[in-house]
Amino acid sequence: MHARSVTASITALLGAAALLFPMSPAGAADTSGTPVVVAHRGGSGYAPENTLAAVDRAAALGIEWVENDVQRTKDGTLVVVHDDDLRRTTDAEEVFPGRSPWKVKDFTAAEIARLDAGSWFSPSFRGTRVPTLEQFVRRVERHGQKLLLEIKNPELYPGIERDTLKVLANEGWLDRQHVGDRLVVQSFSAASVRTVHELKPAVRTGLLGKPPVGDLPGYAAFADQINPSYASLTSGYVAAVQSFRGPHGSPLEVLTWTVNDAAAARRVAGYGVDGIISNVPDVVRDAVG
Ligand code: G3P
Ligand code: CA
Repeated sequence: MHARSVTASITALLGAAALLFPMSPAGAADTSGTPVVVAHRGGSGYAPENTLAAVDRAAALGIEWVENDVQRTKDGTLVVVHDDDLRRTTDAEEVFPGRSPWKVKDFTAAEIARLDAGSWFSPSFRGTRVPTLEQFVRRVERHGQKLLLEIKNPELYPGIERDTLKVLANEGWLDRQHVGDRLVVQSFSAASVRTVHELKPAVRTGLLGKPPVGDLPGYAAFADQINPSYASLTSGYVAAVQSFRGPHGSPLEVLTWTVNDAAAARRVAGYGVDGIISNVPDVVRDAVG
């Protein structure tokens, strides 16, 4: 056998092994049983949400997992911003006064790059920009962090799942190491989560919300996580979710949001959740050990 064919065979075997034996047996979860802590929209209690400054803040706090929200501009660039319009977290109304209702999808990437996404939070963050997904992923990579990427409002952006996977692939985030241990793609839209799974079965996925237990077997075909609000969460629901196995053969995980005080963090940790998503991740980490 030629050296090139041997290399190809080994690569194929490694690829198959990666699918059968993902690097982390429990996806996002910490093997110690302590829930992982995720910095919601970055360290958004301390820096403007979904910005590179928020990623830096999470890193400075020693938080490994960062969550974000991805949407798409008029000219097809993926940007990291939560609301479907730009008013709350930027100065779009001032910079573009005639452009009501200031929807993300109605602005080009160059226009959004002009906006100040920091002053609303604090004058000390003046000049902070809305990052592109590419910039955001690079910053997460630079810090050696992990990414819980939310596809936000996918119904507004047909094909955003493929676009998102393309950026991740270009940035080297769809290799074995990243998909095994450092990346989860989530959405409130089951259709969007299913699409991500169908396009790239190796990528771990999460469905946001609290679907009825009877529907979980259907979701377990394409989602590795069920990620509900902590408000109405119970230990029974967490146990029910974890009793199913996801598309990669591991028990479904539960990451709950948005927990911003120590008492609530201890309560949901007692329910057995796999992860806690928080604007103040250091507070949660200190509370749950
Ligand atoms: O990751 C969970 C959480 O981010 C979902 O809600 O509105 O903050 O995107 P939202
Ligand atoms: Ca989110």
